[in-house]
Amino acid sequence: MSFTNKTVVITGGAKGIGAGCANVFYQDGANVAILDVDDKTGPEFVKKLGDRALFVKCDISNEKEVQDAVEKIYGHFGSIHYLVNNAGILKYFSVTNTSVEDWDAVMNVNLKGAFLCTKHCIPHMQKNNDGVVVNMSSVQAFVAQTNVAAYIATKSALIGLTRSIAVDYAPNIRSVAICPGGVDTPMNRDAFRESPNPEVVRKETENLHLNGRMATEEEIGELVAFVCSEKGAFINGQPIRIDGGLGIKVGGSKKE
Ligand SMILES: NC(=O)c1ccc[n+]([C@@H]2O[C@H](COP(=O)([O-])OP(=O)(O)OC[C@H]3O[C@@H](n4cnc5c(N)ncnc54)[C@H](O)[C@@H]3O)[C@@H](O)[C@H]2O)c1
Repeated sequence: MSFTNKTVVITGGAKGIGAGCANVFYQDGANVAILDVDDKTGPEFVKKLGDRALFVKCDISNEKEVQDAVEKIYGHFGSIHYLVNNAGILKYFSVTNTSVEDWDAVMNVNLKGAFLCTKHCIPHMQKNNDGVVVNMSSVQAFVAQTNVAAYIATKSALIGLTRSIAVDYAPNIRSVAICPGGVDTPMNRDAFRESPNPEVVRKETENLHLNGRMATEEEIGELVAFVCSEKGAFINGQPIRIDGGLGIKVGGSKKE
């Protein structure tokens, strides 16, 4: 895939899946702009990527910051073709244990952040008559882990937002939701570390996947790059699961 002279904006690209996406797009020739609140890891990462990478500190839940960041990227690269709404946070609570503050925090980053970045990037895509908005949903839009109510609500809503963007901006701008299973990222590694037995929980998580492991960040990045490329041009308005077969097994039979 060649993304020469194309610009991708990746939210939450300082680490994890966003960084995996940034690596793939950069290797395929794109200009890569990363929006992230992490102004320690983000600048170090873009320095490692090279000259066609830009870090802009931005809290995607704040419209003014998003507006300024998008203008800065457009001023720097002169175009925006792809937006990967990837930044997300997870809080471990059931509905009855979720405070309004935690609910709002998850909604504001995972859903409002995607809305705001889409709102301010699409006008630039319209200037190219060409663009793709990728929303990082989750396999949890289809199968639910316990005690992550707000997170699951946002990941399901992102699939609706994807359809809405697809129908409103067709035919030149497409939108696709990506639904990963477990990915070996700081988000998961932090969760394992906080559990009483990190190695056991990691193994249990790996074994939920028919592949017996979690995905790498770059495996998700490769799919995101494919759907943005010409090769993925007929994929529109859909959620795509990339989950190592998580959740499809209903049990074993007695006979071989
Ligand atoms: N890791 C998984 O197993 C998995 C599975 C399915 C979906 N996802 C989704 O993929 C996305 C990335 O997950 P990850 O595991 O790489 O997470 P991560 O925590 O490893 O990285 C997330 C990045 O987002 C940034 N971020 C957080 N809040 C932000 C904000 N308000 N503004 C800008 N940046 C912000 C963080 O600083 C960080 O760099 C999330 O939307 C997550 O829900 C992850």
